Amino acid sequence: MNVLVTGGTGFIGSHTVVQLIEAGHTAVIVDNLCNSSVKVLDGIEAICGKKPLFYKADTRDRAALQKIFSENKIDAVIHFAGLKAVGESVKIPLEYYHNNLTGTFVLLEVMKDAGCKKMVFSSSATVYGMENEAPFREDMPTGATNPYGQTKRMLEQILTDVAAADPEWSVVLLRYFNPIGAHPSGLIGENPNGIPNNLFPYIAQVAVGKLPCLSVYGNDYPTPDGTGVRDYIHVVDLANGHLKALEYAEKHTGTEAINLGTSRGTSVLELVHAFEKASGVPIRYRIVDRRPGDIAACFADTEKAKKLLGWKAEFGIEEMCRDGWNYMLRQK
Ligand code: NAD
Ligand code: WQD
Repeated sequence: MNVLVTGGTGFIGSHTVVQLIEAGHTAVIVDNLCNSSVKVLDGIEAICGKKPLFYKADTRDRAALQKIFSENKIDAVIHFAGLKAVGESVKIPLEYYHNNLTGTFVLLEVMKDAGCKKMVFSSSATVYGMENEAPFREDMPTGATNPYGQTKRMLEQILTDVAAADPEWSVVLLRYFNPIGAHPSGLIGENPNGIPNNLFPYIAQVAVGKLPCLSVYGNDYPTPDGTGVRDYIHVVDLANGHLKALEYAEKHTGTEAINLGTSRGTSVLELVHAFEKASGVPIRYRIVDRRPGDIAACFADTEKAKKLLGWKAEFGIEEMCRDGWNYMLRQK
C-alpha cells in the first residue's frame, strides 16, 4: 500500500514509518517539523535502508496536500500530525483547536477529492476523561478536561460522522495509552526540546544529568504505592498496532475505536526503579503535590484490539526502559 503518514517524523510516526517500510509498504511523510527534525529521516534510512518520500508542509495547507495526492497514489492515511501537550493546550487553546481540527478537516477534504477514504487516526486514552474507572473499555462514555483532550474527542466524533455519511469510508480510531521507549537500534526515539511534560522523558533527562531531580506528582493516590498508575506501551508495539489497523481498514468500512495499551498498570515509582535498573543510574526524585487534572489509575482493556486486530503488546517495562535509555545515550 502507499500510505501517507502525517506527522511521520514525530515520535510515534517515525517508528510506524519504519515498520511500514519493513512490511513492504511505501510511506510518504508530510510534517511541518514543528515538533520534530528532518534528521529523523536519516535514522529511518539507517534502520531500514530506505528513505521515505518527505514533504515539509502543514496539514492545514490545502494546496500542499493536493500536490502530495496528485504526485502519489495514496491508498490510506495514518494521521499523527497534531499538537499534543496537555498543559500547553490550556494556555494556547486556539492554536490547539486550529492545528488539530482544521488540519484534519483539510486533510479529510483532500482525501475525499482524491477518492482515498481510509484513515487510521491517533486518538488517546485522554478521551476516557475523569469519570470512568480503569480498565478503560472502548464503549465507555468519553470526556475531556483540557483543550487537547477536547480536540481528540471532537475529531473522533467528526470522523465517525464522516464515515456514517459515506459508507465507503473506513476509519480506525486508535486510543493510545502511554507510549514510551525507542527503537531498539537507538536511532530514533523521543527527546523533546525544553523541559519534558511526560514522565518517561523526564526520568531519562534526569538520568543523563540534563535535569537535577524528578518531581513525583503525589503519593497519596489510592494505588499500591500511592503514586499514579499508567499503562506504558513500547512505541514499537504501538507502531505495530498501526499496521494491524491498516490491514483492518483495508477489509472493513465504518468506524472502530480501539485501545492500544498493555492492560498492565505501572506506578511512577515502579517506572523510576525499572529505569534505574536498566540504566544503572540512580534517579533523584522528590514527592510534590498532585498535578491538577491527573487521575489515579489509567490502563486499558485490550480485548477489542486482540479480537479485531489480532494485536497485543509484546514488550514489558524492562524493554521500554532499556530501549529508551539506549536512545538517550546516543543523544549526548
Ligand atoms: P510528536 O509531536 O512527536 O509527532 C507529531 C508530529 O506532527 C510532529 O513531527 C510535528 O512536527 C507534526 N505536526 C504537528 N502539527 C502539524 C501540522 N499541522 N502539519 C504537519 N505536521 C504537524 O507526537 P507523537 O507522540 O508522535 O504523537 C503523535 C500523535 O499521537 C499525536 O496526534 C498525539 O496527539 C497522539 N498521541 C500521542 C501520545 C503520546 O503520549 N505521545 C498519546 C496519545 C496520543
Ligand atoms: C504519567 C504519570 C503523572 C511527570 C499524558 C496525556 C495523555 C497522553 C499521554 C497524549 C502521572 C506522573 C509525570 C512528572 C510525575 N498524551 N508524573 N512527574 O498524564 O498519563 O498522559 O501523556 O494523548 O493525553 O495526558 O502522562 O507521562 O505526563 O504522566 O510524577 O514530571 O507520571 O502524575 O501519574 P499522562 P505523563
